[in-house]
Amino acid sequence: MEINIRYLEQEFFATIDGVDIKSLSKSEFFEIKKAVETYGVVVINSQNINDDDQISFSEGFGKLEISIGTQTKAPDYQADNSIRPEISRISNVDLNNKMLPFDDKKVIFDRGNNYWHTDSSFKETPSKISILSAREVPEEGGGTDFIDARHALETWENKPRKYSISDLKDCICEHSIVYSRKNNTGDIFDDKFKKDMPFVKQKLIRFHPFTKKPAFYAGSHCSHIIGWDLKESRDLIKEINDWILESGKIAKHKWRTGELVLWDNRRVLHRGTGYDESKYRRIMHRTTVAGDMPSYKEKP
Ligand code: OGA
Ligand code: MN
Repeated sequence: MEINIRYLEQEFFATIDGVDIKSLSKSEFFEIKKAVETYGVVVINSQNINDDDQISFSEGFGKLEISIGTQTKAPDYQADNSIRPEISRISNVDLNNKMLPFDDKKVIFDRGNNYWHTDSSFKETPSKISILSAREVPEEGGGTDFIDARHALETWENKPRKYSISDLKDCICEHSIVYSRKNNTGDIFDDKFKKDMPFVKQKLIRFHPFTKKPAFYAGSHCSHIIGWDLKESRDLIKEINDWILESGKIAKHKWRTGELVLWDNRRVLHRGTGYDESKYRRIMHRTTVAGDMPSYKEKP
């Protein structure tokens, strides 16, 4: 097993060669886990896996989330329940292998991934790690970009700022996928989904339990800071999200079928780069490692 780091100065973005996640030794598994926690993103090439293999590997990191996708799938997609609930299928192809229309709700919902975000920050207990497997990639487009929100925090005060890190360290925000999708893709959810997905509280700055280093925790689901003037807090969240993009290297990943990418949602933001959904097929399966508690309950 060989590990290479793309942005050494940020300890960001690793690629791993020479492993098969279907037959890992204990020490190989722990090296992969350590790499994700140290470098934020890990790409593992050439993994010929199915959903059961992906779930077994992912469960090594902890309990898995259940996909929220069931509430947003097209009726024909929903009727076929042959996919395990731990799998979030990001795709414009239904389970009967038919391409969905580009204006299908499911396709619109997935297009929301093209805005910088951290997975499940809209859940009361947000996720730790996401594991995305490329099952079918489009001929053009359909990449995924990653950016390091820890580096952004470390360099925040390189510029004159109204608020220092110590002013911000105790801020609690509210996140919502209804809010972010409304901004980015339009009002796509029914009343039941909206009722089931209220705003949740998250820390603006989180300490990583493994590295002990702080990172901004924002992205597109982050709406405002509790107790602040709404405009003032939205302006600040925009300034933070803009700085995350400006301060560090954007790691652009172009997928090959069979690749597996793991990222640490406590440190990085990611987004899809988009593709022509009316022309090309794209099938990605994600498993998501659940967190232990709401971030606002984390120490310190
Ligand atoms: C995700 C996601 C982006 C992509 O799976 O969480 O945001 O490129 N995916 O599919
Ligand atoms: Mn995502």
